[in-house]
Amino acid sequence: MHRITSAVKEALTPGKSAKSPLAYDAQHALNAVCPYFTMFPLEFPLAVLRSAPRNAFVADPFCGRGTTIYAARYLGLKSLGIDSSPIAVAIAQAKAVSSTLGRVVRLAESLLQETRKPVLPDSDFWRRAYHRETLSELCRLRDGLAVCSETQTSILLRAILLGVLHGPLSKASDRAGYLSNQMPRTFAPKPDYATRYWRSQRLKPPQLNSINVIRRKAECVLKFIPPKASSVSFIRCGDSRDAESYRYLSRKISHVVTSPHLWVLVHCGKGLESAFVRRPNDQSRRARPDLSASQIPV
Ligand SMILES: C[S@@+](CC[C@H](N)C(=O)[O-])C[C@H]1O[C@@H](n2cnc3c(N)ncnc32)[C@H](O)[C@@H]1O
Repeated sequence: MHRITSAVKEALTPGKSAKSPLAYDAQHALNAVCPYFTMFPLEFPLAVLRSAPRNAFVADPFCGRGTTIYAARYLGLKSLGIDSSPIAVAIAQAKAVSSTLGRVVRLAESLLQETRKPVLPDSDFWRRAYHRETLSELCRLRDGLAVCSETQTSILLRAILLGVLHGPLSKASDRAGYLSNQMPRTFAPKPDYATRYWRSQRLKPPQLNSINVIRRKAECVLKFIPPKASSVSFIRCGDSRDAESYRYLSRKISHVVTSPHLWVLVHCGKGLESAFVRRPNDQSRRARPDLSASQIPV
């Protein structure tokens, strides 16, 4: 059991860590690529792990969006993240990869060009949530990502898309950070509630160029990639109570940094985000050997 040091206590004390919240630090924009339920502040795993030896192997069995994975990488430590939610895994995987702005944008453009136009969902909710053209682009990106070969760039693009899926409307469409009609950034409200709100406020979804929104987000996320990328991370989609989730690890876990597990809330936000990730028992995911992030091609 790790001793609670004063640094950890400080990181856990409300108000104290808020003095210099790393959540808003541009240096850690990769960690903020997409919000997630009940994520803990980056200060916490950084404070716990700062004194860990260089050969430490860190695990977070309920890793959520991978704050622990990011902190371990930042400190140059090897880590394992497990989560039963494919959404969490999609975001956490991005904490361990590297790519470039050019590669991310080129992949998004080629997926848009090469993927067939999908049949769009047609309820009142979907018509008000996204402009039809924007929704068509989103669906093509999703479908393209589901079948393209997995690279560090595709992992990052998927997390970026999850991060721009919904959020507040921007006054200027050329500076939009999100692709949806007005919505909270963290999770989408229930369809009936959202539809009533958009109708009462007469809010129409803006037509946005998804490539521009992706480019802006990628620029921000890629401004600073943690330098200690030599660390190795494994992110697994599974049940952390299952021994299978810990198979084939070449070394013993020395540090566990986690938060109490919570079942992911069932709401429309989950439905929206789920559409952008592969299912955990998806054959293509299963067929892949469990490579560490650094072994996945860029
Ligand atoms: C509180 S969140 C973790 C948030 C994380 N600390 C972060 O900063 O993003 C808890 C996570 O536990 C996951 N979870 C719950 N039960 C699980 C289980 N049996 N095995 C693996 N993951 C589980 C949920 O999907 C959820 O993502």
